Amino acid sequence: MTINKYLSSDEIRDSFLNYFVKKKHITHPSSSLIPANDPTLLLTNSGMAQFKSYFSGESKPPKPRITTSQKCFRSTDIDEVGDNTHLTLFEMLGNFSFGDYFKEEACKWGLELLINEFGLEENRIFATVHSDDSEAKKIWLNLGMPEHKIFSFDDNWWGPAGLEGPCGPCSELHYYTGDLLPNDYKSASKNKSWGPNVSDEFLELYNLVFTQFYHHLDGRKTELPKKNIDTGMGLERLTSVIQQVDSCYDTDLFTEIIEKIENLSGIQWKKSKSSDKAIIIIAEHVRSATFLIGDGVIPENTGRGYILRRIIRRAMRYGMTLKIKAPFMGLIAEEVIRKMGHHYSELIENKPFILKVLEVEETKFSSTLQQGNTLLKTLIKDRNLIQEKFDQINKNLIKIISKENFKDKELFDLFEKSKIGPESLISNLINKAIDLEKHIAKEKNDQLKLLIKNITKLNWKNNISGFEVAYLYDTLGFPAEVTSEIAEESNLKIDLDEFNNIMEKLKLRAKSSSQFKGDLSLQRLFEEMGISETTFQGHNNLKTDSLVIGILKNDKPTKKANSGDEIKIILNQTPFYPEGGGQV
Ligand code: ALA
Repeated sequence: MTINKYLSSDEIRDSFLNYFVKKKHITHPSSSLIPANDPTLLLTNSGMAQFKSYFSGESKPPKPRITTSQKCFRSTDIDEVGDNTHLTLFEMLGNFSFGDYFKEEACKWGLELLINEFGLEENRIFATVHSDDSEAKKIWLNLGMPEHKIFSFDDNWWGPAGLEGPCGPCSELHYYTGDLLPNDYKSASKNKSWGPNVSDEFLELYNLVFTQFYHHLDGRKTELPKKNIDTGMGLERLTSVIQQVDSCYDTDLFTEIIEKIENLSGIQWKKSKSSDKAIIIIAEHVRSATFLIGDGVIPENTGRGYILRRIIRRAMRYGMTLKIKAPFMGLIAEEVIRKMGHHYSELIENKPFILKVLEVEETKFSSTLQQGNTLLKTLIKDRNLIQEKFDQINKNLIKIISKENFKDKELFDLFEKSKIGPESLISNLINKAIDLEKHIAKEKNDQLKLLIKNITKLNWKNNISGFEVAYLYDTLGFPAEVTSEIAEESNLKIDLDEFNNIMEKLKLRAKSSSQFKGDLSLQRLFEEMGISETTFQGHNNLKTDSLVIGILKNDKPTKKANSGDEIKIILNQTPFYPEGGGQV
């Protein structure tokens, strides 16, 4: 693969914006990562998010053509960060037309930009189109792209950002990084496992969305008053292609950040797979945490604050595996600010705040890590006792689940009564696992039977169960690798299979329930109170008359409350968006 010129990431960003300025666009600053006036979107995830009302016609853009480099955050990828490709925070280069130019110009300029401004090989550029979009296909053909380089997909569709908003069919430009020569493409394209979206040799670079529809909260789609263009190209990936390196972590965007981590840990980049993974996670998460805090997000237990907390903790855990002395994030954040501050001045303006928030959170979590360590030591010490308790209740457990229509309450009660583990921790964990099964399993009792059978078979004396490892990891942020190391010192093994199993189930639950839902014990409580939901009215009203449908006192349901009592109330409907949409 040959690229005609080296460009730094700053030059790439500038070239993109300047190219569209020449095409009569105005540049517009990136909006905050906290979306303004959009309770349906937790964090800004695309260039178009700040322009939703221009597309819908609700407000008028300053000019019908705008170009931006937008900070974006995609929380769905947090756990994937650590490989060569995933990022939570990225910059999206975009050009937008609000009822002005449409497909033809967007495609023509997109292709011209990649070839003439960025020096990409035309041969290697492929396109995808929506299966019904013969117009886009024709445009690519007219621009000289051979038919076998245009691939159609039913799901070439983008949007809305959040739960409602503008959307439309899209066409993407992909870059081929493999070894086949252009003469081979035609026959290769007959193979279903070769081509954009299906093989790793193709990198999706540039997404051109033909924004023509509005997706409503109730699922309806209506035509927008005008036809628009929304595009997005990730700066980090484009830079890796132009700089001809394996991943965005090898581009100049990350050079100084990774050098700093090398200095702090004494471990070199590209020395081993596992240390590279840790370096990537620290580099990426500190970079995104710096941007999030720069925009005013602070670590919390819900909403976007929770996302920030998760990435800080994940970075800390990997810092621990590289034996970096905490607190260290501020030192890396300073590199991020040095590298990015000239384009994102809020990083410089908020530098003291960013460093302080990181330090406080890191110091706080350090003690949690310590707590995890202490708890694990207690669990290790208690193995014989834990085994004894299970020996006592195993028969009863089998008896309960061998009944045709057993009630899970019997299981809950038995574990609660047995008080297994320090401060009944193991009893509580198993009850949580039962809860989890109840929420994700289709044949609930069958799954519960299986779970209980496995529990009765466990050798608690010589193993740290998956429940304990998952608790240490998921609740305290204590890494499984560290648990395993400490357990081994006492000749104990950790049940990694069960741990992975539980983590998979937790992911499934996160997917199946709304991303904003709280913990399961609360959900169970609401179910027992006969409460299924609070209807959100904030899209239409900022005031509602609401009925109190439940009262909690000390987190227990109660029928009445007296003056001066501290209680929580549950309403049948509310205009308040519960996850920090501004009204909190
Ligand atoms: N809004 C489109 C995307 O994010 C361009 O891919």
